[in-house]
Amino acid sequence: MDLNLKINEKNHVEIGGTDTIELTEKYGTPLYVVDEERIRNNYKRVFNAFTKHYPDFKIFYACKANTNLAIMRILEELGSCIDAVSPGEVYISLKTGFSPDRILFTGNNVTNEELKYIDETGVRINIDSVSQLKKLAKMVVPEGYKVSFRINPMVGAGHHKHVITGGKMSKFGIKENEAVEVYKTAKNLGFDPVGIHTHIGSGILDPEPFKLATNTLMDIAGIVASEADIDFEFIDFGGGLGIPYEPEENILAIDEFGEEITRIFKSKLNEYGMGKPSMYIEPGRYIVGDVSYLLTTVNTIKNSYRKFIGVDCGFNTLLRPAMYESYHHIIVANKAKDKATEKVDIAGNVCESGDLFGRDRLLPKVEEGDTLAIMNTGAYAFSMASQYNSRPRPREVLIKNGNSEIIREKETYEDLFRNQIIPKRLEQ
Ligand code: LLP
Repeated sequence: MDLNLKINEKNHVEIGGTDTIELTEKYGTPLYVVDEERIRNNYKRVFNAFTKHYPDFKIFYACKANTNLAIMRILEELGSCIDAVSPGEVYISLKTGFSPDRILFTGNNVTNEELKYIDETGVRINIDSVSQLKKLAKMVVPEGYKVSFRINPMVGAGHHKHVITGGKMSKFGIKENEAVEVYKTAKNLGFDPVGIHTHIGSGILDPEPFKLATNTLMDIAGIVASEADIDFEFIDFGGGLGIPYEPEENILAIDEFGEEITRIFKSKLNEYGMGKPSMYIEPGRYIVGDVSYLLTTVNTIKNSYRKFIGVDCGFNTLLRPAMYESYHHIIVANKAKDKATEKVDIAGNVCESGDLFGRDRLLPKVEEGDTLAIMNTGAYAFSMASQYNSRPRPREVLIKNGNSEIIREKETYEDLFRNQIIPKRLEQ
């Protein structure tokens, strides 16, 4: 089993060289713990795997995975660029020091107001629909205005049907057979289309769909380049690189992956005579997925028709199991090496039956007061957390060289009702 599990001599799970049980004593639970070193290593691993074969390569971190300000700062320091999908994500990226030229906005179903804000920031716009192109044409002076387009290459993949973003059922991008037309329209309007983009889905461990999408997007780019006379400055293959969540799952062999994708990229550039555009990818999960544990305390053990281990957070804190039936590995953090003896269901504290972090998990004998570490909660965990059931969102801490620092305070009850207004006539 890999999953980067570290256990110390006290039989406690560690993260970033820090004892998780000491962290719970200091900060309470539920608690998101983030390992800084792992973010840095993940980033460098992907960066090296591609730049080795194609130096003009950039990572656009998909910040929807995790927009914590400290994490954004780490990625800014590393030289990352940003894939932003909303004005809020553009705002947070600018606030954390990314210059506009390091941010690419790929929105869908964008309002005029949002488009206006993005335009004013100077961030580049990756257009998702003809409607958006026309809106932008009315809003800006198109002459010399650089844009790119998101294309649906009819290849899709992902860990769940909700996260497949290519193919006939997907709401994203422009149909591949309309690509030439769209680039021509953009040019006729006066725009300067310099990029092409796709994103086929999320949580993909098999390199095959990526290879297919790379081939397909490059063919589309080649045809667009010649038929619409476009000189691409960049080609962006989106994100989707998966990480193993289950102990037996394979990893995506990143070095081979980088080599294969860049090989296809370079050979297609040659085939179509497309020069040497920059190559972009937009990983989110791969950079931050495995950098965090969610620590939670067992407060109730119930022997009902099944044995339920009840903890002090729920799907408002980590939605993925309820939303996609996603597997997150769970360890009893204070009994890490104890022999697993019983199969239990791990239940959250939200008032819904779907609020389960796992069914039939083989664990050591769990007692009330034990701490569970829910693994791989760096991506799409806090960023999808809510206040459902009127529960404040938890604290986050960052670990660096064995030291912990709070990077987000836990919310208060007051925070839950901030911005709400009782009309005068209903006041007590
Ligand atoms: N680029 C674009 C345009 C995207 O829409 C996404 C993810 C990414 C990049 C990054 O994908 P990643 O490398 O992280 O797989 N909430 C789901 C994942 C939704 C991803 C949506 N788009 C989950 O928890 O699995």
